[in-house]
Amino acid sequence: CGIVGYIGTADAKEILLRGLEKLEYRGYDSAGIAVANEKGVHVYKEKGRIAALREAVDPMQQSDVGIGHTRWATHGVPSQLNAHPHQSSNSRFTIVHNGVIENYEQIRREFLPNVNMVSDTDTEIIVQLVEVFSKDGLSTEQAFRKTLSQLEGSYATALIDDEDRETIYVGKNKSPLLIGLSDGVNVVASDAMAMLQVTNEFVEIEDKEVVIVTRGEVQIKKLNGEEVDRDSYIAEIDSTDIEKGTYPHFMLKEIEEQPFVMRNIITKYKDEHDNIKLDENVRNAVTAADRIYIIAAGTSYHSGLVGKELIEKIANIPVETHIASEFLYNMPLLSKKPLFIFISQSGETADLRGVLVNAKNMGHPSLTITNVPGSTLSRESDYTLHTYAGPEIAVASTKAYTAQMAVMAILAVDAARAGGVTIEFDPLQELAIVANAMEIFTNQKEEMEEVARNYLSVSRNCFFIGRSMDYHVCLEGALKLKEISYIQAEGFAGGELKHGTIALIEEGTPVIGLATQKGVSLNIRGNMKEVVARGANPCFISMEGCEHEEDKIVMPKVHEYLTPLVSVIPMQLISYYAALHRGCDVDKPRNLAKSVTVE
Ligand code: G6P
Repeated sequence: CGIVGYIGTADAKEILLRGLEKLEYRGYDSAGIAVANEKGVHVYKEKGRIAALREAVDPMQQSDVGIGHTRWATHGVPSQLNAHPHQSSNSRFTIVHNGVIENYEQIRREFLPNVNMVSDTDTEIIVQLVEVFSKDGLSTEQAFRKTLSQLEGSYATALIDDEDRETIYVGKNKSPLLIGLSDGVNVVASDAMAMLQVTNEFVEIEDKEVVIVTRGEVQIKKLNGEEVDRDSYIAEIDSTDIEKGTYPHFMLKEIEEQPFVMRNIITKYKDEHDNIKLDENVRNAVTAADRIYIIAAGTSYHSGLVGKELIEKIANIPVETHIASEFLYNMPLLSKKPLFIFISQSGETADLRGVLVNAKNMGHPSLTITNVPGSTLSRESDYTLHTYAGPEIAVASTKAYTAQMAVMAILAVDAARAGGVTIEFDPLQELAIVANAMEIFTNQKEEMEEVARNYLSVSRNCFFIGRSMDYHVCLEGALKLKEISYIQAEGFAGGELKHGTIALIEEGTPVIGLATQKGVSLNIRGNMKEVVARGANPCFISMEGCEHEEDKIVMPKVHEYLTPLVSVIPMQLISYYAALHRGCDVDKPRNLAKSVTVE
């Protein structure tokens, strides 16, 4: 979910709607705004996209104060009733909230036994509690602070009071939140992108702080009322980076940007002597570790699997890669001197943050590899490496994935050299070759569209098989395909398919094989024969040097360590066209959100 707030002089509803459009990547199953004027507080909410909300908002409603929300359902189905904003029983208080209140049942029993709840959401208890405390005689600010101190869980929340329509009360714990500053105008947003339309000057809010926002002032306080001083910063995002320009979809734009991202990474991580430039503290943290624990989710987890191979093979340091949500509640035995590496495009994923909090409590060092340096994970971990991919808007991650692997290759070589391992592989040079190879694929879009048409136009499922490094890319290829085209897809280790899943192969079932790794090239071709013998429709993606005549796609030769950065591109493009042919919403697939800030 994402929240916005505005208090200034312009048309609040338009700014809130535009802000929510920029936050739609965080959830898009329902949305709402509340705007205040001399007549009162007016709430509009709708199931569905911001476009549906826009239709529902009264265009004549004049207001220069308001709050808004776009939802990714957790408690309660997506519906108009469960959409935010929510109001207290007497309608005095109106709230929007991103996060999950874990003790909401308990709060309800303890403080709100006689309150009639209107929605199924955990959010409603916040606004009802503010009303209860204010009826006890507390000021709105006091009631808000007292309410927040009762809450367990995560929240970025904004509240308006019908009896003082000139103030927005804001609170934060674990969920991201920024306050934007301008002249006589202040704004609230889950992500700076939403409010670049108003300002690029922001203040970060820390956990368990409240902010009292008026037109002329932003006051940050702790939950006990103690004032906090914090400097603002200028967000270095170019607002044109978050527009799709002439591209039909962000996803296609972001796929095509990958060669530029590689070149950008090379520039950022190269010193004036063409050597790797990397923060010495990061290097020391990596070389001091006796084992690295890579923690990630989704696509970033898949890049973490490749990261493990790179760091182990190049730097000789043992690495384990874990799914964050599993690690959080089922931690394996740790080594004596672990280093935690968090890989996250957004830097906000709640499951990762949970692990980071635990790692810090145990006193272990942490490094975040992220595309958003000011993000929660980046701020809270000891060190950060930036992936320099530029804003990624499409929900299905593409350029962030390849950028993460590129940065891990650089990190691995840097650590290897610092640890005295002799290594020939020069990642900066090799990444330049990767960039060129990527470009060849991004210029072959018609061929990729053809593959999508031939293999995926009618199929209900698809398998991706590969071995070693290729296997990790198959997991990502399958995820890409299923998340945007809804074709049931599975990535498999080539040798494992026959131990059960081969039962699903029927006449014509598409099987995409990846063969870029010389050492296992013949094995994977053998595995493909096994499925072809059972009717599968095979499509090989291979690399120059290990190609066969029947291969549909042959990628230019790149270093064996870096093949995933290139072999994933045809998979991204095939998924894109498969989704397009099926009429799916490529940039905003159903049920998903780009940044999952709830556990
Ligand atoms: C969501 C997105 C995925 C992403 C995952 C991890 O599920 O839909 O595309 O890979 O979160 O996100 P992160 O920002 O931590 O890389």
